[in-house]
Amino acid sequence: MSVCEFKPGLEGIPAAQSSISFVNGQEGILEYRGIRIEDLAENSTFLETAYLLIWGKLPTKDELIEFEHEVRYHRRIKYRIRDMMKSFPESGHPMDALQASAAALGLFYSRRDLDNPVYIRDAVVRLLATIPTMVAAFQLMRKGNDPVRPRDDLDYSANFLYMLSEREPDPLMARIFDVCLTLHAEHTMNASTFSARVTASTLTDPYAVVASAVGTLGGPLHGGANEEVIGMLEEIGSVENVRPYLEDRLQRKAKIMGFGHRVYKVKDPRATILQKLAEQLFEKFGYDKYYDIAVELEHAIAEKLGQKGIYPNVDFYSGLVYRKMGIPTDLFTPVFAIARVAGWLAHWKEQIAENRIFRPTQVYTGHHDVSYTPVEQR
Ligand code: ACO
Repeated sequence: MSVCEFKPGLEGIPAAQSSISFVNGQEGILEYRGIRIEDLAENSTFLETAYLLIWGKLPTKDELIEFEHEVRYHRRIKYRIRDMMKSFPESGHPMDALQASAAALGLFYSRRDLDNPVYIRDAVVRLLATIPTMVAAFQLMRKGNDPVRPRDDLDYSANFLYMLSEREPDPLMARIFDVCLTLHAEHTMNASTFSARVTASTLTDPYAVVASAVGTLGGPLHGGANEEVIGMLEEIGSVENVRPYLEDRLQRKAKIMGFGHRVYKVKDPRATILQKLAEQLFEKFGYDKYYDIAVELEHAIAEKLGQKGIYPNVDFYSGLVYRKMGIPTDLFTPVFAIARVAGWLAHWKEQIAENRIFRPTQVYTGHHDVSYTPVEQR
């Protein structure tokens, strides 16, 4: 085997062969199983898209009804998991609560029966069904309230919004939230998906796979950026302050959250769709001054950094949409995780179908033959 050049962040190095999704970063194209993201956002639902990602084809009508039915009736979480979550500190970040709760599912369901399609289907259904319940339960319990029971008569997204507020959401809001989940469901070999595949390659259980990916998604350079976008827009405070703020950040060589992407060198197609959704929301539910600040920031950055290929990524407008829905800022990344579970599970399934444990190499930069110095002599 030839010796490869070391690439920090493994930039440009294929870590897997995959037929799940495709990105063309120069032209701003994203496809799930060959279908353009714009087409899915317009015509599909999150659960149908999850099915497409995980099983590789769009379901027939009957398959979709059965899948939706299974997910709907597995939404409740065991009281032991709820009790465990009750003891989490209310000051803890909801992503940490989610990581711990996802891992805890493995205590109940871990059989690692990976050759059995029934086990695989059960795990897929259970994770898709219970992750939203766990996110909503932690949100209520950290405020000292009991969690709201899932409602079997509501669709996936409407039920999640209902569990957060105990109010049935407006249908447009529920539909927009569902599109947001579709947009975030999968995105090739990003950090959390790589993490999921590495964990999957040890043939551990899918709950450990998802817990590991949730931990990776939480960082500010990955899924955590959408929380920071809102903080940044609040700090800017007014349209007039956009350019002075930007100048100051750039002089200090600080990154602007929600901009830039390892793969996209044009505007992320998901950001374009999210911006339209934000406009629909504001039209129906009222104007948001932070949207104007965001649009001005996008223009200013296109002028200053466009030649470097720095444009809005998926996190830039998603925060504004979630904020308008009344979702607390520190739930933005858990909401991202609710969606990305679909992609992680698709990669889990693909990885174990043709597995080879990940065991990369390293470039050693340390010493050799160093003799041990007794503690008294150090
Ligand atoms: N603001 C200002 N400048 C930026 C930004 C940004 N957000 N992103 C990249 N640049 C600049 C860098 O300073 C660098 O400039 P230089 O060549 O003059 O040194 C150049 O563009 C290349 O940047 P890298 O950090 O090397 O690009 P990389 O591909 O490693 O990083 C990343 C991609 C991590 C997403 C980066 O753009 C970033 O930190 N963005 C802000 C955080 C963010 O929004 N993350 C969410 C990403 S989407 C997701 O994970 C779901």
